[in-house]
Amino acid sequence: MTRRTDALFLAGLLLAAGPAAAQSLSGAREWLPPGSLSLDALSLRPREQQSGGDRHSFYAEYGRLAFRSPLVLGGTARKAGLSCQACHANGFATVDFFIPGLSDAHGRIDVSHAFWNARADDHRDNPLEIPSLRGVKDRDRLGHDRRMASLREFTRRVIVTEFAGAEPEPLLLDALVAYQETLGPADAVDTPVTLAGDLADILRHLETLALPLAEEEAALAEQIATMLRSQLGFIHERLQGETLAPARGIVEAWSRHLEEIAGLAEAGHWPQARTALAALKQEVAGPPPALAGAGPASLYNPVRLKAWLAGAQ
Ligand code: HEC
Repeated sequence: MTRRTDALFLAGLLLAAGPAAAQSLSGAREWLPPGSLSLDALSLRPREQQSGGDRHSFYAEYGRLAFRSPLVLGGTARKAGLSCQACHANGFATVDFFIPGLSDAHGRIDVSHAFWNARADDHRDNPLEIPSLRGVKDRDRLGHDRRMASLREFTRRVIVTEFAGAEPEPLLLDALVAYQETLGPADAVDTPVTLAGDLADILRHLETLALPLAEEEAALAEQIATMLRSQLGFIHERLQGETLAPARGIVEAWSRHLEEIAGLAEAGHWPQARTALAALKQEVAGPPPALAGAGPASLYNPVRLKAWLAGAQ
């Protein structure tokens, strides 16, 4: 595993709260053993198919962002840029997930290992199948030992015990539970991971940021802005090479805007923060061609991603 300057650059520039990035390319390359990145897991994802229509509560939307955010976890998972989404892609089981030394087959992983949290190491080589979370709301028992009944309690244990994260705020737990409850039973239909899809997600998460700015809740605004910046980091790291420098520049500028919005919120300049968010939303809704057209030349293109993976591991 090599330390790469681009990973450090990203960490410094975009990720105020430490290195991160979902199924992050650079995070995984730096912190996971070679062979941990899979072309399929990085380029295909089961379609999300949330139940409850197109519009969800703030809780469910904040939970959706948190589910995709490595900042919720701690230790190696966070450094490697893994989030709930990495193992439970859009609520399904990530069947290609594999970490040499921790997995005995694809889609299985040891979650009681010092690699994640030295405190919870059971000193046994016991990979478990990653379950789908589709329909989790209606399960009366959770986990392979079926001991826990509460989704909230299980989620807290995942964060704190399995992945060495900080004790989650009650709101964060409510949000993660609310999101998981929108994951009704569904068949996995693989769809490509695209730049357009990731940009649409950023826009959606910006809507989520509107609530703490309306309620004038600076700490929550900061938290959401930080998670959003780390999502921008995932996009940024796929925009590699000289020709994509302008596209990267746009993403970097958005990240700085988010930092400014959080700063305005912290200073209590609420009207300015709301105006700045509205302006950023407009930009993200109609990104400049240098970014909107960057997909084929980027690591969103599976052919390029495959070549990058061959050189990276
Ligand atoms: C590195 C992979 C990985 C990550 C990251 C991960 N999980 Fe899991 N998850 C698993 C595995 C493996 C199990 C099975 C554990 C067991 O059976 O006790 C599991 C089980 C679960 C279950 C129990 C489902 C059931 O029906 O029994 C829930 C709920 C869950 N995870 C939610 C989450 C949430 C929320 C996050 C993020 C905060 C997360 N997971 C992050 C691998 C992961």
